[in-house]
Formats: sequence, structure tokens, C-alpha cells
Amino acid sequence: MNAWETNPLREGMPDERTVKPTALIIFGASGDLTRRKILPAIYNLGLSRLLPGRFALVGVARRAKPDFAREMKEAVAKFSRRKPIDEATWSELEKGMAYVQGEFNDPATYTRLAEELARLERGSNQSRVFYLAVAPSEVPSIVKGLCAAKLVVPPSPDPDASYQHVVVEKPFGEDLASARALNRELLACLDERQIYRIDHYLGKETVQNLLVFRFGNTIFEPLWSRNHISHVQITVAEDIGVEGRGKFYEQVGITRDIVQNHALQILTMMAMEPPSSWDANAVRDEKVKVLRALRPIRGPEVLERTVRAQYRAGTVRGDKVIGYREEPDVDPKSKTETFVAMSLRIDDFRWGGVPFYLRAGKRLAKRHAEVALHFKPLPHRLFRDAPGGQDEPNVLVVRIQPDEGISLRFATKVPGGGMSMRNVAMDFRYGTTFGSSTPEAYERLILDAMRADPTLFTRADEVEAQWGFIDPILEAWRKFDAPIATYEAGSWGPSEADQLLTPGDSWRCP
Ligand code: BG6
Repeated sequence: MNAWETNPLREGMPDERTVKPTALIIFGASGDLTRRKILPAIYNLGLSRLLPGRFALVGVARRAKPDFAREMKEAVAKFSRRKPIDEATWSELEKGMAYVQGEFNDPATYTRLAEELARLERGSNQSRVFYLAVAPSEVPSIVKGLCAAKLVVPPSPDPDASYQHVVVEKPFGEDLASARALNRELLACLDERQIYRIDHYLGKETVQNLLVFRFGNTIFEPLWSRNHISHVQITVAEDIGVEGRGKFYEQVGITRDIVQNHALQILTMMAMEPPSSWDANAVRDEKVKVLRALRPIRGPEVLERTVRAQYRAGTVRGDKVIGYREEPDVDPKSKTETFVAMSLRIDDFRWGGVPFYLRAGKRLAKRHAEVALHFKPLPHRLFRDAPGGQDEPNVLVVRIQPDEGISLRFATKVPGGGMSMRNVAMDFRYGTTFGSSTPEAYERLILDAMRADPTLFTRADEVEAQWGFIDPILEAWRKFDAPIATYEAGSWGPSEADQLLTPGDSWRCP
């Protein structure tokens, strides 16, 4: 049996027979993202026999790369989730590989790319996915170059025609104005249906499973509202620091890096209404509604409903680590946040009055992302005198990573005479249930871009709504010179974040 036939995750997945012949063109092919994520994802798709027939891969970058294929093989050997490299899969991939060196604003680059594609496609009319793994400032000139060279043409009404899609990496702008400008530039020559804005959290199995859990079962959805839930906590915690990206982080901060995109995406999937169908626009319409229903936090209120902080030196996983201000390329007086916590409200019928506490941080106690739904306390505590009591309400936790799964905490009677109680958890774990290494987010997303499914990509209005919520917060921090708290690296963040919570609530330490 081959890898495809033995892959337990293949059920319901498209395979090479259903994805049209496609060429994938990576701009920024000499960069870190290509080595760490994109190439390993393509290789794993190949190994699972999910790549289309006649698959071609062309790297485009400024640097000369006389041995592109060998470099890519080394990257895959290092970063692939499945090792060692399967030589047969790799040599198949290598046959369709090419590299084009050139400046992104030079028309000659696109002429050479067109020639290379014509050679690889051998005159067949293949679809093309252009993956822009480049800095946001380079996106407009690449899109202009592609359109001018007619490498991308307007979509055809014929559903069987080949297509051209452009995948745009995050960050998508740095605020609302720049995101709008970027959308305008993209839409000047592309159709929205051709634009695939990546947020890799949407490619995570567990994030997608939020929708299956909610809308593929009958028993949870009736509980999923203000009627039963007292508050929701969303955590995106990392134990790593800025990983040598001090310069980048100084300009960005965690609110732009994680909250504007990944954390808000988790929130929308958690809070949205059921779409009428599993159709890209139906799903994204519902997500946009949540973003629009987020009560804006602006002006002096920002100081009450948000906390920003920076890590100090500390110990993470047994290793001593330096503080953010000591990191290379970071201003010793920096006010860039590496942690943020917010208390949000969604003003709609389902969630009116339910606090959504959201936090994200670098150098926290561990890598852990989750959504925790805290249910309301009992209306009457029948067993209040029982040892072990009933003080803790039920909590449903969707663990996004690592240790992906779902657990429900509930009270149970301790066996034996009398009436003692204890909280236990009903636990579902992906690892033990499916027993296979879960596909990386990039595998799913690259495949979706190739098979023309934009459901798990961010639409123009969605990305603008995300910035529309974040912008006033960043602006108020600047305007009021908001204090920046500190926390010890390896902790769960600053104590100031506790003040955001309703008395009686506390942040989870998962
Ligand atoms: C990226 C951020 O988008 O997501 C990084 O730029 C962050 O700062 C990363 O570390 C986290 O991704 P994951 O998949 O490891 O949770």
C-alpha cells in the first residue's frame, strides 16, 4: 500500500484526481517561510498523493540560486513533519522544479517566468497559484508585474477553465488605512475570487474543528450562548521569544502579529452564527458579522479594557532567558508589547453581556492555544455541603495546540459511601483518536488555493473589519502613552491582566 492509501486522514480529502493540473510559483523563494513551511508542506502533500498531476514548482527571488532544488531538499529534510525524505516523492517533485532570478519590479523577471512556465507546462493550459511569501511592501509591484505580463487574467465564467490565484501572506497591512490601500491595489487588477489572504491559523485542524464541533453535532450548539455561558477565554500563548526578529517585532508588537489575525479568527469561529451552507462566502459573511458586532474599544476606555506588557528576564522550560528590552535590535526603552490581554464584548443576541477575555503573549509558561467556555454557576447548589463541593462551574476547553483536543470538566461523585465530589474531565485527543501526525496548516491552505476553495482565507472586508477593531486600541495606547506592564519570562503574564476580569473570574493556567 502506498502513503495515500494508508493515510487515515485522507477520508473526504481531495486527492490528485480532483485537483486540476497546477503550477505553484513562490515569490520570495529564498526566504525563511519557503524553507520552513511552504516546501515542507508541498513535499508532504506529495507524500500523501494530494498534489495535482503535472505539478510544477517555480521559485522566484532576487538572489542567484544555482542549486535551488538541492537547497529545497535540505530544507525539507530539516523541517518536514515526516522524515526521512521519501526519495521517490522528492524526485517526482524535483522534475517539475525551476528557479527564476530577478527583481520583482523588473518586467524581464515576468518574461522569464512566463518562459519557464511554458516549458514546464508543455503547452497545456494549467492553473497557477502565485504564492507571495514576501514583505507586504513588495506585494503591489509583483501583482502589477503578473497582470502586465498576463500571467494572471480575469477569471473565466467557465467552471472548467484553468485559473490563477494569488496567495498573500500576513501581515496584511499595518493598520486599517494600509490594509485598505493594499486591498485597492490588489483589486485594481485581480478579482476578489483570485485573492487568497493567508492566516495560517485557519489551516489548523483544531480551528476548523471548532465549526464541526459546533455545527456538526446537535448537543453543543444549544449551550453555545449567553443562556449558558458566563464567559469565554481565548489564549494564544507561546514560550518562544522574538527569535532574533527584534527589528520586525519593534515595528509590529503582538497585537498586530497575533491578535489582529490569529486570535480574532479563533474568536470569530467560536462566536459566529451557523452559515447556511459550507460555502466560502456564506462562512465568511458570518465571520464578518461577528467582527462588526465587536464592541469598539476606543479612547480612554482602552486603558480599562486592555493591558499591554513586555517580558522581563526569566526561566522558560528550565533555561534562563533575557528580557525583551535586552533582545538584539530592540530599543532598551521600547514600548512594544509582547503580551496583550483584552476584555471584549460581542453585541449581538447570542453573546450580549458575555465577557470574552482574550490574551496572547510571547515567553509565557508554555506554548498553548485554546478556547475555554466557562458555563454559568448552578442555579441551586444541591450538594453544597458535600466534601469537594460544587464551586467550580463546568468548563469546555477546545485545545488548539499542542495536545490538540477537547475536554469537558464536570463534577462527579467520588465512589464510596457518603457524598463526596470531585471535578473530572472527559477528554478527546486527536493524537490518540486519529493516531497520525496531523497535516500542517500550510498543507491544507496550499491545497485549498490549488483547488479554488477560499473558505479558509480572509476576505477583503474581513481583514478590514479586523483592523477596524484593532486600530483604535493601538491609537489610544499611543495617544495616552499607556503604561506597559512587565512579566517574568516563563510566567502566565502580568498581574495587571487580572484587573480586566469580572470579580470572581480568573485566567486559566492550562
Ligand atoms: C506567526 C507570528 O504568524 O505565528 C509568529 O508572526 C508566531 O510571531 C507564529 O510565532 C505562531 O504560529 P504557530 O503556528 O506556531 O502557533
